[in-house]
Amino acid sequence: MRKEEKTSKVRQQSATQKHITIFKLRRADDAKLMILARKLWPYVPARDLKTVFGNAHKRPAKATLIGARTDTALIGFIYATVRVDYVEGSDTSPVAYLEGIYVEPQHRKQGIAQEMLAELESWSRKKGLTELGSDAYATNKLSRRVHVRLGFKPQPLIAPFLKKIA
Ligand SMILES: CC(C)(COP(=O)(O)OP(=O)(O)OC[C@H]1O[C@@H](n2cnc3c(N)ncnc32)[C@H](O)[C@@H]1OP(=O)(O)O)[C@@H](O)C(=O)NCCC(=O)NCCS
Repeated sequence: MRKEEKTSKVRQQSATQKHITIFKLRRADDAKLMILARKLWPYVPARDLKTVFGNAHKRPAKATLIGARTDTALIGFIYATVRVDYVEGSDTSPVAYLEGIYVEPQHRKQGIAQEMLAELESWSRKKGLTELGSDAYATNKLSRRVHVRLGFKPQPLIAPFLKKIA
């Protein structure tokens, strides 16, 4: 049995009552993943998302895609990377980084984000990473609240600036 299959089975057992399986997303899942990703990042062109996901499949040491599914549908995903640039508030480098998390509205508040995050933490620990970073728009109150409930500590705010120089 391959490692990913093993992981999938363990999560299936712990989530049996909800009939939800947490698993590592593969290229074959890309079409379904794209539908959810466009809901989370509607302003990002589909071709850019395709590149991002393609890179994650190609370089599993640097990124991962974790999914949650019922027997019939993909209902959530996490996209995470290993960041080598400084992550606000971190003491170590590199740091695992939660780039995006999404659960379909009708499946929310049932612990699915928590289950996927537990899988990400396990993936990160196996890589020797001891910190997990994330971010949210200051205006996204739901995301901030959920981050705190999931064990993240808010870091002192920095305001980003950008100047066009060409
Ligand atoms: C944020 C999101 C992924 C949470 O998914 P979820 O499966 O509903 O989350 P969970 O059920 O695992 O809940 C995790 C924790 O957050 C809390 N939580 C979830 N939704 C909440 C809400 N609307 N208000 C307050 N707390 C909430 C839960 O109570 C739980 O905390 P607890 O264990 O202490 O009770 C989901 O709401 C979503 O996809 N939102 C839109 C996309 C988004 O904003 N993503 C984050 C930015 S990248």
